[in-house]
Amino acid sequence: MENNKVLITGGLGFIGAHFVHHYRQVQPKAHIIVFDKNTYAANIDRIDDLVNTARFTYIEGDISNQETVNRVFEEHQPTHVVHFAAESHVDNSIAGPLPFLKTNVEGTFYLLEAARKTWMQSPQKLKSAFKNARFYHISTDEVFGSLEKEGLFNEQSNYAPNSPYSASKAAADHWVRSYFHTYGLPTLLSHCSNNYGSYQHNEKLIPTIIRTALSGEPIPLYGDGQNVRDWLYVEDHCSAIERVLAEGTPGQVFCIGGNAERSNLDICTAIVQQLDQRQPKESGTSYAEQITFVTDRLGHDFRYAIETTKIKTELGWEPKYNVEAGLEKTIAHYLAKYKNLP
Ligand SMILES: NC(=O)c1ccc[n+]([C@@H]2O[C@H](COP(=O)([O-])OP(=O)(O)OC[C@H]3O[C@@H](n4cnc5c(N)ncnc54)[C@H](O)[C@@H]3O)[C@@H](O)[C@H]2O)c1
Repeated sequence: MENNKVLITGGLGFIGAHFVHHYRQVQPKAHIIVFDKNTYAANIDRIDDLVNTARFTYIEGDISNQETVNRVFEEHQPTHVVHFAAESHVDNSIAGPLPFLKTNVEGTFYLLEAARKTWMQSPQKLKSAFKNARFYHISTDEVFGSLEKEGLFNEQSNYAPNSPYSASKAAADHWVRSYFHTYGLPTLLSHCSNNYGSYQHNEKLIPTIIRTALSGEPIPLYGDGQNVRDWLYVEDHCSAIERVLAEGTPGQVFCIGGNAERSNLDICTAIVQQLDQRQPKESGTSYAEQITFVTDRLGHDFRYAIETTKIKTELGWEPKYNVEAGLEKTIAHYLAKYKNLP
């Protein structure tokens, strides 16, 4: 691992930044290169303790600019790519899908091309300096579409993306798969469920619930709040990624989930119950009174749920946090962050 140069795209984002810290701890000798466009979703504060430290490089740049991507590969010769960079918010993809095509599809393509040119001597043959190279694409369970009340997604599930966001992630997945099969690029890919934890952008569900609750506003829930997601604590996701990166065989795909199916209303109720105890309202009433159902998201998928048998049996990975423990840590973070709200 000493000579590993790990290019982490999207390392200023929510999951990417958590992974940067996780990887620095478990692989202190690896050189980490964060490559991020620093969009509205990024926050350099998430990694500011690492900037200007040894074996760490931050590059501000756009993965959908091929010249920039090629330059980064030429200058830094990464041995591993962990590709998080994406436009990631479904609502934004409905309002304006083009950036999702540019970043999630075109950007992934330029990274694959640069990796192929840097690592491969010829199709199916890696240059000796890159014999342990890996290109790891972080995908989502949303590429499989929506489940009814029963059933789970697994590695054999059919693709059926329903939003411009999930369509762009699905397209990127197919490009990744094709580079493994056609050129022998050593790819890895995982589909994970809804992540939550500290430092998530304000626009996402859990920060929105906590922020609106504390500021006395209506707590907005789409539709009737019955849409179900599998909730994965971000630190568990990072440990799974690290395991797949270290032990996954090129070409493999893994599903990663928290074994924690909850409706949006369940999650919201669990949060307001904790808030009622940890920061009771002066009025003595419950934050639950602020829950307000709002017009549903267009094409809102009903249910996602993940079967984690493969990663458990092949790599021995299981999530450590149940929802209650994960939410407790998460709420502590946002209580501190939002402490000055009116
Ligand atoms: N958050 C989840 O629950 C979840 C679930 C499954 C999969 N994923 C996937 O995990 C990855 C990370 O998700 P996240 O929640 O941390 O996202 P995020 O939106 O918090 O962060 C994305 C990061 O990518 C960067 N970025 C965006 N466009 C870029 C570009 N053109 N060039 C370089 N950098 C760019 C942003 O600046 C940001 O730092 C994404 O690929 C997402 O599809 C997320």
